[in-house]
Amino acid sequence: MEALTLAKQHLQQNGFLDLDVDPTLDIIEAIQKLKKEKNAIILAHYYQESEIQDIADYIGDSLGLAQEAARTEADIIVFAGVHFMAETAKMLNPGKKVLLPDLKAGCSLADSCPAPIFKKFKEKYPDHKVVSYINCTAALKTMTDICCTSTNAEAIIDSIPEDQPIIFAPDRNLGAYLNKKTGRDMVLWNGACIVHEIFSKEKIVKLMNRHPNAKMIAHPECEAHILDIADHIGSTSSLLRYTKESGFDEFIVATESGIIHQMEKASPNKTFYPAPPNNTCACNECPHMRLNTMEKLYLCMKHELPEIHLEQEVIDKGRVCIDRMLDVSAKAGL
Ligand code: 13P
Ligand code: SF4
Repeated sequence: MEALTLAKQHLQQNGFLDLDVDPTLDIIEAIQKLKKEKNAIILAHYYQESEIQDIADYIGDSLGLAQEAARTEADIIVFAGVHFMAETAKMLNPGKKVLLPDLKAGCSLADSCPAPIFKKFKEKYPDHKVVSYINCTAALKTMTDICCTSTNAEAIIDSIPEDQPIIFAPDRNLGAYLNKKTGRDMVLWNGACIVHEIFSKEKIVKLMNRHPNAKMIAHPECEAHILDIADHIGSTSSLLRYTKESGFDEFIVATESGIIHQMEKASPNKTFYPAPPNNTCACNECPHMRLNTMEKLYLCMKHELPEIHLEQEVIDKGRVCIDRMLDVSAKAGL
């Protein structure tokens, strides 16, 4: 095999290192230049580091990112997020190059629901429809009737007839929260997100006592005992909107701390306290999301690697549940 092909294969499998970038390079300028030259778009999730959010063409939650991926006219989509998000973008754009700065940027929630095991679980409920949180693998999407995100989950569940039994996968916390909100009795897959399950109720209550005017806001991937003490529960974009529009000045934020960058930009005079996790850290970062760095972003755009590849059959089958989700969301004005 040619040396170049071997080198490319190595990079695809092992990724780049930050050290591979000349430290004197103006990395922001270099990325801007590559964006123009290659007609590339950078889509970033709120949990990315601040510098990546600042250079992105679009920053959003999982629904916004999928909608943006569906409408982009760029030739290359650079996904500053995690693997399932880039896979979703690829399913929506099979003819385009979709890049992920670090291919190892996975998701504990997606990993908690391996498709072959889910297949056996699903066989026990032959009359059930499957609603999957978008935080799942492409293989799981091929077994899903309709996808959802935390922004549209209620609208998606409400679009299914009330007498239709449902399996909800993979997040047990979001599923339990939705059962409570919608009055359904969905069968829940027992998966969870490591980032949202690590919050300490005891430490949050202490923080609430120290800052009695602060509103506690939480993502529905958190456990029920954390949601029970929240003043507002919602997706990352819903939490951001609440901090802008609610009229309060202080917030305890129970989700990945990356979102606080946008909250502070939108409301520079307000104060945000990251909800403390059950360990010695003061805030909570997703170890998968944070694998992406500015250096890896630059190198991935320069070399157009690592790239997301999916089998045509997976794209054809998996895309159906995403298209259905986008249709219901559009009808609901989301
Ligand atoms: P949203 O941004 O859609 O709320 O999702 C949160 C999350 O955990 C993404 O991995
Ligand atoms: Fe997955 Fe949780 Fe990280 Fe989101 S925050 S990518 S759900 S592990």
